[in-house]
Parts: sequence; structure tokens; C-alpha cells
Amino acid sequence: MHFLITAGPTREALDPVRFLSNRSSGRMGFAIAEAAAQAGHTVTLVAGPVALPAPPGVERVDVVSTQEMYEAVQARLPRAEAAVFSAAVADYRPVQVETQKIKKSADRLTLELERTPDILGSVRRVFGWRGVLVGFAAETEQVLEHARGKRTGKDCDLMVANDVSQPGTGFDAEENSVTLLFAGGGEETLPRMSKAAVAERVVAAVEKLAAGR
Ligand code: CTP
Repeated sequence: MHFLITAGPTREALDPVRFLSNRSSGRMGFAIAEAAAQAGHTVTLVAGPVALPAPPGVERVDVVSTQEMYEAVQARLPRAEAAVFSAAVADYRPVQVETQKIKKSADRLTLELERTPDILGSVRRVFGWRGVLVGFAAETEQVLEHARGKRTGKDCDLMVANDVSQPGTGFDAEENSVTLLFAGGGEETLPRMSKAAVAERVVAAVEKLAAGR
């Protein structure tokens, strides 16, 4: 199978030297890319700015902003049979990107932000793609309720509910605590484990979903 995977954060520029972003390390997505490649799949990895080497045998596409990630995904999705969106995408970007460094003046500064495109949410509705679709839901509270809503709202075959409230798991951590939420209603809570182990479970779940079609 051909996997398209998104990983890492996106960055939204404020001026030539500043940006808005988040603490995603990209480790979860890179682990999925590695697990899929090791299982013999073709892998395209669309990565935001992260300090990780691409796993062997993986085609890597580097992007910075959400808009760039959106366009990279749209261009490559037609060749993919499975898509796993683990990127922590910036939901908002500055309305205006200053061409010169913003100088300090008043005591307060208000930034005006606008929504970025929802990449995962566009896959079915805008791109009309029909392959096996997996999303991640990073949540700090009511984890399963929010993740179930996202699975339905973005029409995913599988949503990986990710509890990022515990120290040592989730964002910028080595381990993850996840529950797999399937479109048929099935749910499987995995014990806290390394991101490499979660990645193997996600790849196995995708293979099973593809075989069951
Ligand atoms: N996602 C995306 N494009 C966006 C925002 C999110 O592709 N602009 C994807 C993420 O890669 C993830 C899923 O959507 O697979 C859920 O992301 P998350 O940040 O948890 O949810 P949001 O839809 O952004 O909702 P909220 O921030 O309100 O929780």
C-alpha cells in the first residue's frame, strides 16, 4: 500500500523572525512512517519543521505553514491508498504577515488571527478521496467524547484519541496513551506504550481496514 503521513507542527509567520507554532516533535508521525516502511509499504511523509531524520526508504516532503502542508497533501493524496494525519496543525495564522520585524511600542499588542484550512477535514469533502483515513485527536479533557466527534466530523475510518494531559505522554514525549476509535463503533484502549509500539498498532489497524474493504 502507499501511505501518506503528516507529522510535526506547522508554523505561521508573524514577521521575518517570529512565528506561531506548538510543541509537537513529529515523533509520532515519523514512527508511523518507519513502521509502515518496515512493513513493506511505500511511504510519503509530509513533515512540518522538526529535528528528526527521515526513516530509511521514506519519501520526505518538508513544509512550514499549514497552507503548504494542505497543498502538499492535496497534490499527493491521489497516489495514496492510506492516509494518517498525525501533524499538529496550527488552527490559526496571523491575518497580516509583516515584511519587516515588528518593533515594540505600546504596552499591549493584539494579534488578529484567521482560521487555517482544515487539511484532514478537506480530505473527503473537498478532495473527494476515498482511501483508508486515519486522524489523531490531541485532547487534554473529555478525550474520548471530543475524539469521537472529530472522527465523525472529519469522516475518518479510524481516529486515534491521544490524551496529552499526562506528563511523559503525547506532545514532545517518548510515549503515548491512545484509544483507537473505529468507524463501526469499535474502541480499543491501548496501554501506555512507546510511540514506536503505537505506530505498529496503527499500521496494523490500517492494513486490516484496507483488507476489509
Ligand atoms: N488537522 C488538520 N488540519 C487542521 C487541523 C487539524 O489536518 N487545520 C488534523 C490533525 O492532523 C489531526 C486532526 O485533524 O489528525 C485533529 O486535530 P486536532 O488539532 O486534535 O483537532 P482540530 O480539528 O484542530 O480541533 P480543536 O483544535 O478544536 O480540538
